[in-house]
Amino acid sequence: MSIPEEFVQELKMRTDIEDVISSYVTLKRSGNRLLGLCPFHREKTPSFVVNKDGNYFHCFGCGVGGDPITFIRKIENVDYVDALKILASRAGMTVPEGKADDGMRKLKNRILEANREAARFFYGELMKSPAGKDALSYLHGRQLTDKTIVHFGLGYSPPERYKLTNYLMSKGFKGDELIAANLICQSKNGYGQYFDRFSDRIMFPIMDLGGNVIAFGGRIMTDIKPKYLNTSETPVFNKRKNLFALNFAKYVVKGQLILVEGYMDVIALHQAGFETAVATLGTALTEDQARRIKQYCDEVVVCYDSDEAGRKATLRAIEILRPAGLKIKVMNVPNGKDPDEFIKSYGEHGPSRFGLLIEKAPNDIDYRLNEMKKGFDLNRPEQRVDFLTQASSVLASIDNPVERDVYSARLSDEMNVQKQAISSLVESGVKHERERERREYRRRVNQNLSVQMNMNNNGNLRAAKAEEAIITIMMINSDIADRVYRELRPEEFVTGYNRSIYAVLVKRLQAGKGISISDVSEDFTVEEMSMLVKLIDSYSPETNPVSAADTYISILREEGTKLSPEQIAGADNDTIMELIRQTQKKKFGHG
Ligand code: UTP
Ligand code: MN
Repeated sequence: MSIPEEFVQELKMRTDIEDVISSYVTLKRSGNRLLGLCPFHREKTPSFVVNKDGNYFHCFGCGVGGDPITFIRKIENVDYVDALKILASRAGMTVPEGKADDGMRKLKNRILEANREAARFFYGELMKSPAGKDALSYLHGRQLTDKTIVHFGLGYSPPERYKLTNYLMSKGFKGDELIAANLICQSKNGYGQYFDRFSDRIMFPIMDLGGNVIAFGGRIMTDIKPKYLNTSETPVFNKRKNLFALNFAKYVVKGQLILVEGYMDVIALHQAGFETAVATLGTALTEDQARRIKQYCDEVVVCYDSDEAGRKATLRAIEILRPAGLKIKVMNVPNGKDPDEFIKSYGEHGPSRFGLLIEKAPNDIDYRLNEMKKGFDLNRPEQRVDFLTQASSVLASIDNPVERDVYSARLSDEMNVQKQAISSLVESGVKHERERERREYRRRVNQNLSVQMNMNNNGNLRAAKAEEAIITIMMINSDIADRVYRELRPEEFVTGYNRSIYAVLVKRLQAGKGISISDVSEDFTVEEMSMLVKLIDSYSPETNPVSAADTYISILREEGTKLSPEQIAGADNDTIMELIRQTQKKKFGHG
């Protein structure tokens, strides 16, 4: 770890867990805890708890837990050091640059550098090379201005398939770095030559929120498939977590973002003055992306094509956006056009027309009802009944009772049916849904409580429980920890998982480091942190933890010498050696 310990300590001191988490999750006070909807799994009944005193969070629905750093690691999908950076920037601190970076960080940095160089290269090819001329006129033909092209850093990948490779290698990048960046490929047969991955395509750099180029989309200018070739998953790129142009849009959001399907839509919209447009990256909208959007605004205008596929995608997007707590407006661009085509087809009036459509766009409930209505002949009584039944289930999905009531009233007006009849349909739908959720919730919680954390307990539950208790007591009581680690060696642990956890704690203690939940996240994965928090959270303190610790240690030692033949057969050498030692110690007494 290259970040100075004092810095980390200072950062931890300045980081308030409630403050951090509540910028992602709405927390309500409940007793001495804070409760909210877990951002890591979908739920409607809160099982996400923030314990301020303990400085940890824990979801007893899905089992995730940890300190504030673990939270950031998980929700931002970053490693420990990046999580520190995010927390530091919140706290107004700058992480001192380390010298001895570990391998993965180094690789990530190299990939980002290579991407930046590649973006420069593509841009140069577009602007200066003879082959880039056609590409540039293609973009001009699509009415992009030079200003827009520069702003988005568009480029062109030349057809030869060696130019980028050569260029980047001449800048000192290694083959494996460029392969990891997904910028070049290696031929499978023959001499394993390197060649450019993108060739003869318009290049769209995809940037993260810090403006780093994390990937590219490459559009071919003919009808050859695929139309877009995108960077596949790399250590710096996850297409399910990022959004195209959010790095620009984030500066101008005023409570609302526009979500469109394509890169070209985003670019055309930004050029037309709608700089809050963002797009997914060739996949359907994900929960992670919805959460990211929610960090910047409260309302999304979903603006997909009005064809069959676009309408389906719209409904799917609504299902993702609503649970994320976002208000939704839906605008299907008319006449089978996408936003880019729409804006252009009205010339100078395109932007104002588009703006008007956004303003008049119905919300998601109205949209769903309207869509649904199209499938029915409302002049026929039985079809009216069917429509009302289905419509009620849409209204039942609204969480807010007042909102439900308003819609029921309107539907009753429109359909000329007593409101009471609609309301009762809706409310029974709500009840039904609640019941289902409650069952699901109970199932999850039970599953989580009964799951033996340590699945690999060699069949020895008693030992595993003793181990977990020892670990927990140590993490809560530093003075007991100080004594236990000198007496109990990791090899004495029966189960491999707990042993490795304990070994880490011992190392920390030997180095004079703390082992409370707020101290340890640099040494554990998110899963391990979750398991530790679960132990701590479900622990009921003994009246005398010192003697409790002793009891658990003797249980552990007892169990440790009691393995069945199958377990002995399955155990590793260390365990066996330890076993022999323990047995002898018992026979011949201490010494
Ligand atoms: P579109 O086909 O609507 O592309 O795909 P577009 O952005 O409007 O581009 P133009 O106007 O035809 O030039 C929408 C998005 O789906 C992803 C891309 O992110 C694209 O912007 N996509 C599409 C791919 O990833 N691969 C493909 O082959 C096609
Ligand atoms: Mn298009």
